[in-house]
Amino acid sequence: MIVKSAEFVTSAVKTRQYPEALHPEAAFAGRSNVGKSSLINTLVNRKRLVRTSATPGRTQLINFFIVNHNVSLVDLPGYGYAKVPVSVRRHWGPMVETYLKSRQTLKAVVLIMDVRRIPGIEEQNFIDWLHLYQRTPILVLTKADKLSKSARIKQRQAIGSALGVKEAALILFSAKTRLGKPEVWSAIERAIFDEYRQCD
Ligand code: GTP
Ligand code: MG
Repeated sequence: MIVKSAEFVTSAVKTRQYPEALHPEAAFAGRSNVGKSSLINTLVNRKRLVRTSATPGRTQLINFFIVNHNVSLVDLPGYGYAKVPVSVRRHWGPMVETYLKSRQTLKAVVLIMDVRRIPGIEEQNFIDWLHLYQRTPILVLTKADKLSKSARIKQRQAIGSALGVKEAALILFSAKTRLGKPEVWSAIERAIFDEYRQCD
């Protein structure tokens, strides 16, 4: 994907606040602080289009961005971080579930995981829940720059076994070095444009 333009569209909590569903959409999910917002910035070649933070729970709304005026990217708030206030956590589930269930133009869900951590029950539940809706997430292992080349290959094997998926299904990524950026874009493009072609 050659990114010519990338703009923030709007933030939403409720369905009626979503922008009109005009373009194929890819959403980015994962635990708080895993690097979702940084990954989107890397994909669109911008340092600060999406706000990132060392403090978990930075993104608390559903944020919509538009790339090249024809692809929509959605930054979802992170889950599973205990320090996020209870009031926010109580909202998170329904807000994100409603979005994932109801958004007609949603064509790709990218699940971002930290390469250094074996995924837990939250990730497995999320993948199982997506399968209920016939969705297979694109799986990305980020912060790969924090491990040596050999260590990241080993971790990818271990994470593949933990999730019961082939290693090839796990894309190693780094927002720092941009490792894996073309692979993530290709996976998104395959998901969003193939489906659109089938609909033609
Ligand atoms: P929430 O919005 O709080 O859920 O977080 P997030 O998943 O959007 O994470 P964010 O992109 O804000 O990044 C969290 C922290 O991790 C920041 O300090 C980033 O600089 C750092 N970070 C993100 N991606 C990478 C990466 O690939 N490598 C390294 N070394 N640091 C990263
Ligand atoms: Mg964020």
